[in-house]
Amino acid sequence: MRIDQLLASQYSRKEMKQALAKGQILVDGQAARKLSQNVDTDLQVVTIQGQPAPASNHHYWLLHKPRGVVTANRDAQHATVFDSLASYDRTPDLYALGRLDRDTSGLLLLTDNGPLGYQLLHPDAHVRKTYQVVVNGPLHADLPVLFATGSIFEDGYQCRPAQLTILASSAKQSRALIELSEGKFHQVKKMFLAVGVKVISLSRTQFGPFQLDQSLPYGAYRGLSSQEKQILVHILEESR
Ligand code: URA
Repeated sequence: MRIDQLLASQYSRKEMKQALAKGQILVDGQAARKLSQNVDTDLQVVTIQGQPAPASNHHYWLLHKPRGVVTANRDAQHATVFDSLASYDRTPDLYALGRLDRDTSGLLLLTDNGPLGYQLLHPDAHVRKTYQVVVNGPLHADLPVLFATGSIFEDGYQCRPAQLTILASSAKQSRALIELSEGKFHQVKKMFLAVGVKVISLSRTQFGPFQLDQSLPYGAYRGLSSQEKQILVHILEESR
């Protein structure tokens, strides 16, 4: 939210301009540059003339998405990720940070903080994601080098470098971890198809610094702690 929008309920435009000119609007201790600057009181400490700015009221949920539900706000056939939330937590304008396929499980962040989501999903944010993958064939020892240099989809698209760790490989089934910063449609499945194997199980275990809690059952969710919200700020700062 812009600073002037945040302060509008308590300060006139003239008061805001004067406070800005005197360096009395602080964002995490730094003087704000302009009233149109975007801030987030969930993630940053915003003060005006030494007083805390009115708080915004965004929600942040970490969901262990089960297989079978779709990452969409509504679907005629299937349950959605939002159906996993209790009705009192299903606030308006919630959306998922990145899409997981219906047959993919794992960590999914849900929020109603639109600008934050937009920035985190921007390719320049380079948010790293880790997936546990099972494929229906062997994973050869030279694949980590190929993935690290950027594998190439069947249609010629060159992927960004990804880190592949082979956990077990056999002729019929292999397991691996893959860490990448891209989020193209069916990204992981296409990367493995490009090297001749099909993904038969996919689960996201990490999104940026957030790890899937071992204790969180499929379909369960929890709110982010204030410390975790601060971590989101750092990701955004690093991406600027
Ligand atoms: N890559 C995929 O192919 N599917 C997902 O759900 C996520 C990443």
